[in-house]
Amino acid sequence: MKIIKCRDYEQMSRVAADIVAEEIKSNSKAVLGLATGSTPEGMYAELVSKYKNGEIDFSEVVSFNLDEYINLPEEDVNSYHYFMNQHLFNHVNIKKENTNVPDGNAKDIDEYSRRYDEMISDAGGIDIQVLGIGPNAHIGFNEPSSAFKVGTSKVKLKKSTIEANSRFFESADEVPKYAISMGIGSIFRSKKILLLASGKEKAKAVYDMLNSEIDPKIPASILRIHPNVVVVVDEKAASLI
Ligand code: PGA
Repeated sequence: MKIIKCRDYEQMSRVAADIVAEEIKSNSKAVLGLATGSTPEGMYAELVSKYKNGEIDFSEVVSFNLDEYINLPEEDVNSYHYFMNQHLFNHVNIKKENTNVPDGNAKDIDEYSRRYDEMISDAGGIDIQVLGIGPNAHIGFNEPSSAFKVGTSKVKLKKSTIEANSRFFESADEVPKYAISMGIGSIFRSKKILLLASGKEKAKAVYDMLNSEIDPKIPASILRIHPNVVVVVDEKAASLI
């Protein structure tokens, strides 16, 4: 696991965007695993700039997102479909048919989840998976639990995650209680993983990821046994390591 400590959020975002851009430059058909949340917003803005100045081309890039809320319309401003359009897809030349965000409104979520993992395999697997980390060390919506979930599935969000995400909604009551998320196995099959963390509220999660036993109660701890992980953290998120 390689750890890159950055001064601040801006530097973290630039370093992360450089890593993703290198992937696209070395393989025009790169399969990107993408994350939502506040953390990668700056990275997406940097990637959009790199596209606009001709440094990278998304025309053959394929993407798979980590997760989506269940039963939130795609057009809702809090849906991850909306987020991805707003922050990346509407500003670069990625083909909409090459972008995949889990369908939180699928009729049969279990069947759809199985298909989502198959779609990733059929695309050749993910070349680089971007991850944030929750204050409880979740990755995607893999919440602390007694066992690691392998494949994509429906998950119940922890109260702490609902509270953390309520900043985007009018109130915690409006935050969906369920989501569909890639599992730890889906994430683990990625050839490379890029985890970003910024701010003091992530310091404990970053510390636990690096120091706890590998334990499904600290979901990110499993990343320590993946062969190709880069962690990019700012000073505050790195304050305990
Ligand atoms: P955040 O979310 O980037 O909005 O902090 C990260 C996460 O919960 O995985």
